[in-house]
Amino acid sequence: MLDLEPSLVIGVPEIDAQHKVLFEEVASFEAAVNAHLPYRFREFLTYLQMYARTHFEAEERLMRDVGYPLLAAHIHEHSDFKRRLQSLVPKWEVESDSPAFVLAVHGLLHFWLADHVTVSDKRLQAFLRTADSTPLSDKPSTTRRRGR
Ligand SMILES: [Fe+2]
Ligand SMILES: [Fe+2]
Repeated sequence: MLDLEPSLVIGVPEIDAQHKVLFEEVASFEAAVNAHLPYRFREFLTYLQMYARTHFEAEERLMRDVGYPLLAAHIHEHSDFKRRLQSLVPKWEVESDSPAFVLAVHGLLHFWLADHVTVSDKRLQAFLRTADSTPLSDKPSTTRRRGR
């Protein structure tokens, strides 16, 4: 899988720490699966759901605060991920840790890291590095805009 390379660092400690944890969790998942070790998939799904809720909220709060223009599309990706993650729970209840289930988890994690963190979250990073990305909460109230 992928590493949290320095080029993916957003520059916001809370978000970067959450991304680091995600990459570590995925690495330990992959190591266990590759070594054919028993893995607590149900607990892992619960953890990912909790993680997604906390992380996406933090990221969306940040995007609102800086007036990120791609906020809606980014939220859509988060929602899609949460929906796909939720759909894995009944799949696990039917299939348990079958090869098809493990493949589905792997596919979703790959989507999250390779297609979202390294593409969409990186776009946010690029925006934050532009000149006028001071959080709106730090600007005079006359210029303050609030998202949904
Ligand atoms: Fe993220
Ligand atoms: Fe994101």
